Amino acid sequence: MKNLLVTGGAGFIGTNFVYYWLGKYSEDHIVVLDALTYAGNKDNLTEAEKNPKFEFVHGNILDQPLVEALLENHNIDTIVHFAAESHVDRSIHGPDEFINTNIVGTHTLLKAAKKIWLDAGKESHRFHHISTDEVYGTLGSNDPAFTESTPYAPNSPYAASKASSDHLVRAYHETYGLNTTISNCSNNYGPFQFPEKLIPLVIINILFNKSLPIYGDGRQIRDWLYVDDHNRGVDLILEKGVSGQTYNIGGTNEWANIDIVHLICDLLLEQFSNDKSLAERFSASPAAQATDPKILITHVKDRLGHDRRYAINAQKIKNDLGFLPDESFETGIRKTLTWFLNHQPWWNNLLSDSYKKWIATNYSEPI
Ligand code: NAD
Ligand code: DAU
Repeated sequence: MKNLLVTGGAGFIGTNFVYYWLGKYSEDHIVVLDALTYAGNKDNLTEAEKNPKFEFVHGNILDQPLVEALLENHNIDTIVHFAAESHVDRSIHGPDEFINTNIVGTHTLLKAAKKIWLDAGKESHRFHHISTDEVYGTLGSNDPAFTESTPYAPNSPYAASKASSDHLVRAYHETYGLNTTISNCSNNYGPFQFPEKLIPLVIINILFNKSLPIYGDGRQIRDWLYVDDHNRGVDLILEKGVSGQTYNIGGTNEWANIDIVHLICDLLLEQFSNDKSLAERFSASPAAQATDPKILITHVKDRLGHDRRYAINAQKIKNDLGFLPDESFETGIRKTLTWFLNHQPWWNNLLSDSYKKWIATNYSEPI
């Protein structure tokens, strides 16, 4: 039985992790610590809060006394650290929060874990740090995929902050003997993803006849993994991963951005044709008139320092821990589309006021 502290559990991947874990390990206790930034949403956890083994704490990972009290009072033996500023575009426009949360915040957690676990002789513990493939930089079209020994070469302030936090986790293992593991995962998609990220943004913009912004030529490549597969990988690492080790997690599923956008357009058109109620609910969408949503595609100025290609070599987690994704991209993207179509109130609450105003002034059926 485990007592977990899940940081950032009200965000996209953390929320999915909480439901995955509660569904699989009914004996375990989970405490979520989340600052509820723009990306965190307590309502995500409404179902989890019905479970007496779950507790939500509104607080910041930078608050070391709070973290220490949680570790002690809940007898936490496992930290799963998701909390971060996670959006590359935001890091380009305002890096400070990324330094505070991703670097200083991670260090604060490490200090608290060292004090409450190591300094008190609590041998049975694990600090699992959730990181990203972006720490490895960018690949050319013929380069081999990132392995765990690919040198770090982060290009955005976000990636640099994550790389820095990875190094701190490593240092706490090497120097103090903290029991740590790190996972570097590729792009996730699925339920509860904040609609500033490519896939949910494109889905929602198609529903409201808004342009689909493609940075540059749209031929940048990402390696997509369904969020539950990421969390199954984390589960395997917690169960069988070796202290001090890093594991890449990915689905060997490379797509150019423009091809993903085309796919979403095609699948939504198909859904509208199969379910006539969608045309009533989203009457502004081109799909409501059986028009191909690709007409909304607009190439815009490229992201500064935009990484051209990411690809994960996931052989280590496959060979050592038996990881394989359950979800194909075909099944995962269909599930994701269906989830967004069925959860309009969820994403509607997150849309900015200016976006809502835009929709209200342009269309007769404001959301
Ligand atoms: P997200 O932005 O959806 O959620 C982040 C969560 O962290 C939010 O709930 C937010 O309120 C919380 N948070 C932010 N600052 C905090 C602070 N100072 N104290 C406490 N809570 C705070 O992010 P996500 O997409 O779910 O990503 C989760 C983790 O996974 C991040 O560490 C990210 O780097 C990593 N990751 C994400 C992806 C991806 O594709 N989304 C891929 C690989 C790795
Ligand atoms: O690779 C893992 C990373 O994936 C995570 O560490 C990050 O937290 C996560 O946000 C994600 O980063 P990306 O920058 O790859 O994701 P995003 O959804 O922002 O963009 C995906 C690709 O689509 C990227 O090449 C930029 C492009 N894009 C994105 C948006 C939002 C567009 O062309 N237009 C857009 O409007």
